[in-house]
Amino acid sequence: MSRLSLEECTNVINGLPPLSSALNRLLSALENDMAGANDIARIISFDQALSANILRLVNSAYYGYPNQITSIDHAVVILGFNAIKSLALGLAVVNIFTEKVYKESKKMHFWEHSLGTAVASRLLMSKINKNYSEEAFTAGLLHDIGKMVFLLSFKDDYVKLYDEAKGDSNNMQFLESEAIGADHAKVGTHIAKKWCFPSKLCAMIQYHHTPEKLKDFDQMTVITGCIVYMANWVSHMSILGKKVTDCPSEKFFQLKDILKIPDELLNAIHSSLNTHINEIKRFFNMA
Ligand SMILES: [Fe+2]
Ligand SMILES: [Fe+2]
Repeated sequence: MSRLSLEECTNVINGLPPLSSALNRLLSALENDMAGANDIARIISFDQALSANILRLVNSAYYGYPNQITSIDHAVVILGFNAIKSLALGLAVVNIFTEKVYKESKKMHFWEHSLGTAVASRLLMSKINKNYSEEAFTAGLLHDIGKMVFLLSFKDDYVKLYDEAKGDSNNMQFLESEAIGADHAKVGTHIAKKWCFPSKLCAMIQYHHTPEKLKDFDQMTVITGCIVYMANWVSHMSILGKKVTDCPSEKFFQLKDILKIPDELLNAIHSSLNTHINEIKRFFNMA
C-alpha cells in the first residue's frame, strides 16, 4: 500500500468540531465538589438528547433496575456522578464519529470491539473496585478512537489495513506505523487532548497497548490501564470467535495473574459479551 499521509490526519483532527458547550458545562459541574445532584440534573435537562439517552440507559437491561425511572433527578442519584460523566463523554464522542463514518466503521467491527472492550473493562473493574467501573467503561469505549481518525482520513484504505492485520493488535500497530508514520494510540492521544479529556483518560488511550508505561500514574490509573489492555483482548477474541485461553498475548496472562482475575470470571465475561453489546448498542443509537 502507498504511504498514507500523517498530515491528512492532522487536518482531520483540526477539522473535528469541539465537544458541545452543554457537555463542557456538565463536565465542569461534575468536577465541582459543591455541585449537587439537582444542579447536575438541571444541566442535563437542558440537553434533550442526553436526557432521553440517560433515561433509556438507566431503564435498560444493562443496568437492570427493577422499577421504571422516569426523572433525570432520580437517574443522576441512581447512576452517580462518575457514571453520568463517563456516559455523557462517551456519548458525545460516539455521536461525532458515528455521524461521519458509521458505514465504514461497521466493516471493521469497530463499535462492537469498542463496546465489547468497554463492557469487559466495566465488569473486570467491578470485581476490583466498583467506584472505578464507569471510568474503566469509558476508557474501554474510547481506547481506539485514533482508529476513527484514521478511518475519517483514509476511509477504505484504512479498512484494507485492518483486514491485513487479521485482528492482531500488534500487527495493526506495525502496519499503521509503516503506512502512516504513527499508530492509533498516538493519534488517539492527540484527539483526546484536543477535546480536553481528563489527563488520566488521555494516558490510558496513549498506553492501552503498553499499560506498563503508566507506572508513574496513581495506582487506580495503572490498574484501569491494565484492565483495558485485558478487556481489549477479551473483546478481540470474542469477535474472532475464539476462546480467551487462545489469546496470543503473553502480557494478557501475566496481568491476569497480577490482578488475580479468575478464569471463571474471564469466561463468564467472554460468553456474555455479545448480549451486553446488543443491550448497550441501543443507548448509543447503533441498534
Ligand atoms: Fe488499540
Ligand atoms: Fe482495541
